[in-house]
Amino acid sequence: MDKRVLAGFAMTVLVMIIVPAYWLQEPARQSQALQRQQHQTALLGAEAFVTYCTVCHGDRGQGLVGPRLRDTAYEEAALGKIISRGRPGTVMPAWSSEEGGALKEHQIAEIAFLLKHWDDAVVDEAYKLAHGAVPTPTTATKVTPSTGQGEKFIAQGQALFTEKGCVICHGLGAGGTGLAPSIKRRPPEVVRRQVRNPVGKMPTFPADRLSDTELDAIIAYLNSL
Ligand code: HEC
Ligand code: HEC
Repeated sequence: MDKRVLAGFAMTVLVMIIVPAYWLQEPARQSQALQRQQHQTALLGAEAFVTYCTVCHGDRGQGLVGPRLRDTAYEEAALGKIISRGRPGTVMPAWSSEEGGALKEHQIAEIAFLLKHWDDAVVDEAYKLAHGAVPTPTTATKVTPSTGQGEKFIAQGQALFTEKGCVICHGLGAGGTGLAPSIKRRPPEVVRRQVRNPVGKMPTFPADRLSDTELDAIIAYLNSL
């Protein structure tokens, strides 16, 4: 056979093998590109989340003063609206720059994406980028009525005052901030009523977020001040 014909034939065979092989890998390549893009979006959302949201929604979105967000039932579009406009009449601010908030529209969309695709690994990555370290998960303070009213009970109440988010609004040592008044040594019945059935711009703390015993510990702490 003519050498050129032979070479042409070999080329054809090669092309017949390489082109389908390339096509076969194309979906995998596309899905990898999509995964990279989604990871990037979630990471951008996480960077904004750990900067602006964790103080009220918890360091892993587990809920604190604001509700749990890490497995929210809201769709992305609804989340975007809530985040943009806030919840008027509550401490949840409007975040959209159009409403005077700190976030651009694309950042709000990225946070909404993160909330629907929550991944602790991505959030940890954002903590490392922002602070160089990941916050250690807080071990919840355990109180039992048998702990009594002593020093230990007061110390637990102090820890709970921070853990449950009272400190965000009422300040260190319950001395008050621009958001909420001092609550040092308020009568126990006033604290109980306000926590379970608040007046003014204070979130409700139902028993599943703050047990009666935990509340007693906080009251013991407030009375010790
Ligand atoms: C100063 C505290 C505070 C900060 C900061 C804050 N939130 Fe909130 N957020 C709240 C409170 C309180 C609520 C519940 C309001 C209500 O009673 O409807 C809430 C509600 C929400 C809801 C609705 C959840 C639901 O289940 O109803 C979303 C979504 C949300 N916040 C997202 C965010 C995002 C995202 C950020 C950061 C950009 C953020 N929040 C920052 C306090 C805060
Ligand atoms: C998001 C902010 C916020 C958080 C978190 C918060 N409070 Fe408050 N709290 C307020 C505001 C605002 C008031 C004032 C309400 C009013 O009278 O208009 C208030 C009032 C009170 C009062 C009544 C003060 C008085 O003299 O009548 C008590 C007691 C109190 N808070 C206890 C707590 C405890 C305990 C916690 C934690 C379990 C807590 N609060 C968490 C905002 C907050």
